[in-house]
Amino acid sequence: MNISPFSLSGKLALVTGGASGIGAGIAEMLAEAGALVVIADIDADGARARADALAVAGLAADAIRMDLSEEGSVVAACREVVARHGAPWALVNNAGVQDRQYLLEETANAWDRVQAVNARGAFLVTREIGRAMAAAGAGGRIVNIASGVLAGMLATGTAAYVASKGALAAFSSITALELVEHGITVNTVLPGAVPTPGTIGAKGPPTAGPGTRRAPLGMCEPRDIGAAVLFLASPAARFVTNQTLAVDAGFSLS
Ligand SMILES: NC(=O)c1ccc[n+]([C@@H]2O[C@H](COP(=O)([O-])OP(=O)(O)OC[C@H]3O[C@@H](n4cnc5c(N)ncnc54)[C@H](O)[C@@H]3O)[C@@H](O)[C@H]2O)c1
Repeated sequence: MNISPFSLSGKLALVTGGASGIGAGIAEMLAEAGALVVIADIDADGARARADALAVAGLAADAIRMDLSEEGSVVAACREVVARHGAPWALVNNAGVQDRQYLLEETANAWDRVQAVNARGAFLVTREIGRAMAAAGAGGRIVNIASGVLAGMLATGTAAYVASKGALAAFSSITALELVEHGITVNTVLPGAVPTPGTIGAKGPPTAGPGTRRAPLGMCEPRDIGAAVLFLASPAARFVTNQTLAVDAGFSLS
């Protein structure tokens, strides 16, 4: 029996946006720690491919299509996950979109698209999985992936994105308050710059500003974010809630 306080053996973890980038790194690390990881993503084929790759490596994984911008999709996918595997122990709200517009050119539609996934989507999944966790009565872990933009990594063209991450961070706090009676902890991770399909392929104008400075320790990799998530998702972090952890390669020292 593995008695490590960092083990997730026998536990279920749901990672949104786990088909790509940081979410894939998080899913990998949680699976390596023993969790059965369900990858939920709008990219159903990508989620299935990631889950299959984990299975080939001898790890436990499943996949499900979920569009965070559609309430019906979130509700149906969360119900399906619980029906297949029971209530998750850990939820990682990682999925996000990063398309840019300069503030004075930003359209309401573009703004709404970003909030729909990054802020409203995380709320919907948290409500659905929070209900299942509370009903199961075994406690749990929620980790929200916000951004180093909240710790000063500001770059032009990211007004909608920064606002969505601010909303997510504030939502983390109120979630921590409302779920503490169920033994569910809620924490926020602020990733620094991580080269991913999402950052490389983000649509929009060039960026400038302090967030484009290079951090002294270099570029983070998805697994660096996964390591922080693993700690917060583990039994070891049972008394850590309503906290924010930046994993930004020392950006504040740059
Ligand atoms: N990469 C970075 O430098 C960086 C820095 C700070 C924060 N973040 C945050 O980390 C998270 C992951 O970013 P990434 O860089 O790995 O991006 P990514 O684009 O590589 O991966 C995001 C995943 O989310 C999925 N997704 C997008 N819209 C969705 C929707 N409507 N429903 C369900 N899934 C959806 C995508 O299909 C993709 O698999 C995001 O929340 C992002 O804001 C990234």
